[in-house]
Amino acid sequence: MTHRVLQSEYLHWAKTRRPVLYPLSGSDVTHFPLDRLPFDIADLELSGASHYRYAPLREAIGAKAGVSPERVVAADGTSMANMLAMAALVAPGDEVLVEAPTYEPLLAVARFLGARVTRFARRAEDGFALDADAVARAVTPATTLIVLTNLHNPSGAYADEQTLRRIGGLGPRVLVDEVYLDAAFEEAPRSAARLGDRFVATASLTKVYGLSGLRCGWILAEPALAEAMWRLNELFGVAQAQPAERLSCLALAHLDEVAAGTRERLERNRGLANAFLASRADLASPPMRHGITAFPRLLSGDPEALDADLRARWETAIVPGRWFEAPDHFRIGVGGPTAALEEGLARLGAALDERR
Ligand SMILES: Cc1ncc(COP(=O)(O)O)c(C=O)c1O
Repeated sequence: MTHRVLQSEYLHWAKTRRPVLYPLSGSDVTHFPLDRLPFDIADLELSGASHYRYAPLREAIGAKAGVSPERVVAADGTSMANMLAMAALVAPGDEVLVEAPTYEPLLAVARFLGARVTRFARRAEDGFALDADAVARAVTPATTLIVLTNLHNPSGAYADEQTLRRIGGLGPRVLVDEVYLDAAFEEAPRSAARLGDRFVATASLTKVYGLSGLRCGWILAEPALAEAMWRLNELFGVAQAQPAERLSCLALAHLDEVAAGTRERLERNRGLANAFLASRADLASPPMRHGITAFPRLLSGDPEALDADLRARWETAIVPGRWFEAPDHFRIGVGGPTAALEEGLARLGAALDERR
């Protein structure tokens, strides 16, 4: 008997690396300490049968995103949100058009579902900007779904509403992974789900709120589709863990406190990263304007070898671009404490100097 081996190679790789002291490889902000939230352990009581589609959480997510609760599907992280959304939208053999480069699990899920995956490019020369014309050229009559990230992982590039609306007008549904979107503070962005029923958006409290362990994720979709996704979830998680649902409600009720200081830290850290990138003749990168990650090109040499060296000798780490199908690039994340970022960048600079 043969087994189909389907997996996210990237996530397995990322999760099996040894932790380092000054990582530049992460893409979330510093974890939020739960003891800052006002709750008692009794609030997390497991009160018998699980609440079907726990209404307080559905309402809290809807209120945060600016959509009615009937458009909200709760899911374990953006990861399960992407899986559920695509599983509801994609049948084997369907053509699914995915940005390149992208977050590898989005590709893995589409392939797992038996999609025929096609691609459109986000070009390094354009700062990986989302180009509606490039999407339009790649759409065919067979395309059933277009898949994007906004902000873009790996580059952090921001796509505005005008660009998204043009893509929404092309015909196929558009799945927008918005796990980083709230880090575009300057733009005060709205979810693409508010731009019309062609859009399906996914997100979570993982990246910008430092609550990855909570697995508070969601899908926003038009009501009939949202209903189909809830039904489909009977085959996956069935229900979410009750303590997590309740903690998620608490976190959403105190989101300003959870996010306090994040904007300032990210602006400071992006400034440091931009100064570093501008100072390096061996790297090419547009300045970071939004978000948590940058995706510079290493002008000569191999980012994988650089990463191996950083991990072995410098107690730091990057994400080699091969995980994003761009092997001459690498990703850095700036969401951690400023002092650790400074040290990580200094060590990256020293490792690069040695390689010259
Ligand atoms: C684009 C994108 N989507 C989803 C995820 C996973 O997020 P979550 O922890 O909410 O499952 C990540 C994590 O790196 C990501 O970069």
